[in-house]
Amino acid sequence: MESFPLSVTVNDQRVRASVPADRTLLRFLRDDLGLTGAKEGCAEGECGACTVLLDGAPVCSCLTLAVQAAGRAVTTIEGLADEQGRLHPVQQAFIDAGAIQCGFCTPGMILTATALLADGPAADPAEVRAALAGNLCRCTGYAKIVDAVARKAAAR
Ligand code: FES
Ligand code: FES
Repeated sequence: MESFPLSVTVNDQRVRASVPADRTLLRFLRDDLGLTGAKEGCAEGECGACTVLLDGAPVCSCLTLAVQAAGRAVTTIEGLADEQGRLHPVQQAFIDAGAIQCGFCTPGMILTATALLADGPAADPAEVRAALAGNLCRCTGYAKIVDAVARKAAAR
Protein backbone atom coordinates (compact mmCIF):
# COMPACT_ATOMS: atom_id res chain seq x y z
CA MET A 1 0.00 0.00 0.00
CA GLU A 2 1.40 3.35 -1.04
CA SER A 3 1.99 5.87 1.77
CA PHE A 4 1.30 9.57 1.62
CA PRO A 5 2.78 12.47 3.60
CA LEU A 6 0.28 13.87 6.07
CA SER A 7 0.38 17.20 7.86
CA VAL A 8 -2.46 17.70 10.30
CA THR A 9 -3.12 19.64 13.48
CA VAL A 10 -4.14 17.37 16.33
CA ASN A 11 -5.20 19.00 19.57
CA ASP A 12 -3.40 22.21 18.56
CA GLN A 13 -0.15 20.39 17.77
CA ARG A 14 1.13 20.12 14.22
CA VAL A 15 1.79 16.48 13.30
CA ARG A 16 3.67 15.27 10.24
CA ALA A 17 3.56 11.63 9.28
CA SER A 18 3.51 9.22 6.42
CA VAL A 19 0.38 7.11 6.26
CA PRO A 20 -0.94 4.36 3.99
CA ALA A 21 -3.84 5.48 1.83
CA ASP A 22 -6.24 3.15 3.63
CA ARG A 23 -5.25 4.19 7.18
CA THR A 24 -8.34 5.40 8.99
CA LEU A 25 -8.19 8.49 11.14
CA LEU A 26 -9.17 6.31 14.11
CA ARG A 27 -6.21 3.96 13.61
CA PHE A 28 -3.89 6.89 12.98
CA LEU A 29 -4.95 8.58 16.24
CA ARG A 30 -4.92 5.44 18.35
CA ASP A 31 -2.04 3.42 16.93
CA ASP A 32 0.30 6.06 15.52
CA LEU A 33 -0.26 8.92 17.97
CA GLY A 34 -1.28 6.93 21.06
CA LEU A 35 -4.47 8.94 21.49
CA THR A 36 -6.77 6.17 22.67
CA GLY A 37 -9.68 8.34 23.78
CA ALA A 38 -11.52 7.69 20.53
CA LYS A 39 -12.88 4.18 20.78
CA GLU A 40 -13.51 1.53 18.17
CA GLY A 41 -16.99 0.11 18.60
CA CYS A 42 -18.68 -0.99 15.40
CA ALA A 43 -16.03 0.29 12.94
CA GLU A 44 -18.81 0.96 10.46
CA GLY A 45 -20.27 4.32 11.36
CA GLU A 46 -23.12 3.15 13.56
CA CYS A 47 -22.12 3.70 17.19
CA GLY A 48 -20.31 7.05 17.41
CA ALA A 49 -17.70 5.75 19.88
CA CYS A 50 -14.94 6.88 17.51
CA THR A 51 -16.24 10.45 17.17
CA VAL A 52 -13.67 13.23 16.94
CA LEU A 53 -14.00 16.81 15.75
CA LEU A 54 -12.66 17.68 12.30
CA ASP A 55 -12.50 21.45 11.94
CA GLY A 56 -14.99 21.57 14.80
CA ALA A 57 -17.54 19.18 13.32
CA PRO A 58 -18.12 15.67 14.67
CA VAL A 59 -17.04 12.84 12.37
CA CYS A 60 -16.78 9.10 12.72
CA SER A 61 -13.04 8.59 12.65
CA CYS A 62 -13.57 4.93 11.74
CA LEU A 63 -15.03 6.05 8.40
CA THR A 64 -12.62 8.93 7.80
CA LEU A 65 -9.29 8.32 6.17
CA ALA A 66 -6.29 9.88 7.85
CA VAL A 67 -5.35 11.56 4.57
CA GLN A 68 -8.75 13.29 4.54
CA ALA A 69 -7.61 15.21 7.62
CA ALA A 70 -4.62 16.72 5.78
CA GLY A 71 -4.32 20.42 6.50
CA ARG A 72 -7.23 20.33 8.91
CA ALA A 73 -7.67 20.46 12.68
CA VAL A 74 -8.58 17.34 14.65
CA THR A 75 -9.77 17.52 18.24
CA THR A 76 -9.91 14.41 20.37
CA ILE A 77 -11.09 14.05 23.94
CA GLU A 78 -7.45 14.40 25.02
CA GLY A 79 -7.47 17.94 23.62
CA LEU A 80 -10.48 19.31 25.48
CA ALA A 81 -8.95 20.15 28.86
CA ASP A 82 -7.05 23.43 29.08
CA GLU A 83 -3.28 23.80 29.52
CA GLN A 84 -3.64 23.64 33.28
CA GLY A 85 -5.47 20.32 32.99
CA ARG A 86 -8.84 21.80 33.92
CA LEU A 87 -11.63 19.83 32.36
CA HIS A 88 -13.71 21.33 29.58
CA PRO A 89 -17.12 22.51 30.90
CA VAL A 90 -18.89 19.74 29.00
CA GLN A 91 -16.62 17.12 30.57
CA GLN A 92 -17.40 18.58 33.98
CA ALA A 93 -21.12 18.63 33.20
CA PHE A 94 -21.05 14.89 32.45
CA ILE A 95 -19.35 14.23 35.77
CA ASP A 96 -21.73 16.49 37.67
CA ALA A 97 -24.78 14.83 36.11
CA GLY A 98 -23.51 11.29 36.75
CA ALA A 99 -23.66 10.71 33.00
CA ILE A 100 -20.69 8.32 32.81
CA GLN A 101 -20.81 4.62 33.59
CA CYS A 102 -18.36 2.36 31.73
CA GLY A 103 -17.13 5.39 29.79
CA PHE A 104 -16.80 3.70 26.40
CA CYS A 105 -19.22 6.07 24.70
CA THR A 106 -18.21 9.11 26.73
CA PRO A 107 -15.45 10.65 24.57
CA GLY A 108 -17.68 10.55 21.50
CA MET A 109 -20.69 11.81 23.42
CA ILE A 110 -18.75 14.72 24.88
CA LEU A 111 -17.22 15.74 21.55
CA THR A 112 -20.60 15.63 19.80
CA ALA A 113 -22.12 17.64 22.65
CA THR A 114 -19.25 20.14 22.53
CA ALA A 115 -19.89 20.76 18.83
CA LEU A 116 -23.61 21.10 19.49
CA LEU A 117 -23.08 23.65 22.24
CA ALA A 118 -20.56 25.57 20.14
CA ASP A 119 -23.30 26.04 17.55
CA GLY A 120 -25.51 27.79 20.10
CA PRO A 121 -27.82 26.85 22.92
CA ALA A 122 -29.97 23.79 22.42
CA ALA A 123 -31.52 23.44 25.83
CA ASP A 124 -34.51 21.48 24.63
CA PRO A 125 -33.92 17.85 25.64
CA ALA A 126 -35.53 16.70 22.38
CA GLU A 127 -32.96 18.69 20.41
CA VAL A 128 -30.16 17.27 22.51
CA ARG A 129 -31.44 13.74 21.93
CA ALA A 130 -31.61 14.38 18.20
CA ALA A 131 -28.07 15.76 18.14
CA LEU A 132 -26.74 12.76 20.06
CA ALA A 133 -28.69 10.21 18.04
CA GLY A 134 -25.54 8.93 16.35
CA ASN A 135 -23.81 8.20 19.65
CA LEU A 136 -24.94 4.97 21.28
CA CYS A 137 -24.66 4.20 24.98
CA ARG A 138 -25.28 0.75 26.39
CA CYS A 139 -25.17 1.78 30.04
CA THR A 140 -26.85 5.00 31.03
CA GLY A 141 -30.26 4.96 29.41
CA TYR A 142 -29.33 8.40 28.04
CA ALA A 143 -31.35 10.40 30.58
CA LYS A 144 -28.34 11.70 32.51
CA ILE A 145 -26.37 12.39 29.35
CA VAL A 146 -29.22 14.45 27.90
CA ASP A 147 -29.64 16.17 31.24
CA ALA A 148 -25.92 17.08 31.36
CA VAL A 149 -25.99 18.62 27.89
CA ALA A 150 -29.35 20.34 28.26
CA ARG A 151 -28.32 21.91 31.56
CA LYS A 152 -25.05 23.10 30.07
CA ALA A 153 -26.95 24.60 27.15
CA ALA A 154 -29.50 26.25 29.41
CA ALA A 155 -26.72 27.81 31.50
CA ARG A 156 -25.28 29.64 28.48
S1 FES B 1 -16.54 2.79 15.73
FE1 FES B 1 -16.94 4.41 14.39
S2 FES B 1 -19.09 4.64 14.42
FE2 FES B 1 -18.72 2.86 15.62
S1 FES C 1 -21.36 4.78 29.66
FE1 FES C 1 -21.06 2.71 28.96
S2 FES C 1 -21.58 2.80 26.84
FE2 FES C 1 -22.12 4.75 27.62
